[in-house]
Amino acid sequence: MSTDGGESIEACRRRLTAALQAAGKTPAGLEARRILGHVLGLGDADLVLKGDEPLDAAARAALDAMLAERLAGKPLARLVGRQGFFDFELDLAPQTLVPRADTEILVEAVAGFFGQKDRALRRFVDLGTGSGAIAIALLRQFPQALGVATDCSPEALAAALANAGRLGVAARLEVRCGDWFDALSNLTGADLSGPDFAGPFDLIVSNPPYIRDDVIETLEPEVRVHDPVLALSGGADGLDAYRAILSAAGRHLAPKGLVALEIGHDQADAVSALGDSLGFQRHRLVHDLAGKDRVLLFTLKENN
Ligand SMILES: C[S@@+](CC[C@H](N)C(=O)[O-])C[C@H]1O[C@@H](n2cnc3c(N)ncnc32)[C@H](O)[C@@H]1O
Repeated sequence: MSTDGGESIEACRRRLTAALQAAGKTPAGLEARRILGHVLGLGDADLVLKGDEPLDAAARAALDAMLAERLAGKPLARLVGRQGFFDFELDLAPQTLVPRADTEILVEAVAGFFGQKDRALRRFVDLGTGSGAIAIALLRQFPQALGVATDCSPEALAAALANAGRLGVAARLEVRCGDWFDALSNLTGADLSGPDFAGPFDLIVSNPPYIRDDVIETLEPEVRVHDPVLALSGGADGLDAYRAILSAAGRHLAPKGLVALEIGHDQADAVSALGDSLGFQRHRLVHDLAGKDRVLLFTLKENN
């Protein structure tokens, strides 16, 4: 590639940071480094070490194009095709939701439950796995656990499996395509050598689509335009997925098992009532960092 003797990597970093800052894309410094790192194929340390090197014309053009897309509202994660979750990175596909920090709270609530002395997480199912964020985080935190990840999007499942492979947990993960628990119908213990993956499960976990259909049009463009509608839409009252999951969960849950669900900030009462009517007792309601209702944990009622 030819160089035009022009802008250095460091000067470009400063220019990108200023442009992002002016457009309110924060943290601007981090975003600028991620864009530069993605286009140049360099980590943070090399961006500093090579800061005086001039950019060639092709790299400049690629950086300017990516900056323009970012300023036009494309999310950074979609631009670079990756998103951090806990201490690891997930590759994204157009069909996967960008994993959110709120979902780390769901994983932490599950880890808190199974971190207690008389409870073991041996096998779980993650319904609507998307990029595999929840399943992979659990497999990393619980090295003895086996997981099944389902989704109705085959492209999402392919992304989840690729992420699991890159992160070294694919041997403990089965993926199945289909509608909620229906995806499990062709799952047998023979799918993998070793313990039976077929359930019953110690944990049924899901971050399902939970946005009311009439709210979707009002979402920020970064979400509405760039996240797949299948990952957002919870039907007319936002509760379709909870109905489907909770009405079948009792048949797949081990006797002392846990159902862990991410919820919308205004859905705790409705989802708790749904759980109660379908044989579950609320074990815990967990708030997010903003203090909003975010996660519900259920166990089976004693008399079930
Ligand atoms: C809110 S996203 C969550 C993705 C991922 N678990 C996460 O937390 O980042 C919901 C996921 O459910 C999947 N989904 C939607 N409807 C489904 C259905 N009927 N059966 C199975 N999965 C479904 C979507 O494709 C999407 O991947």
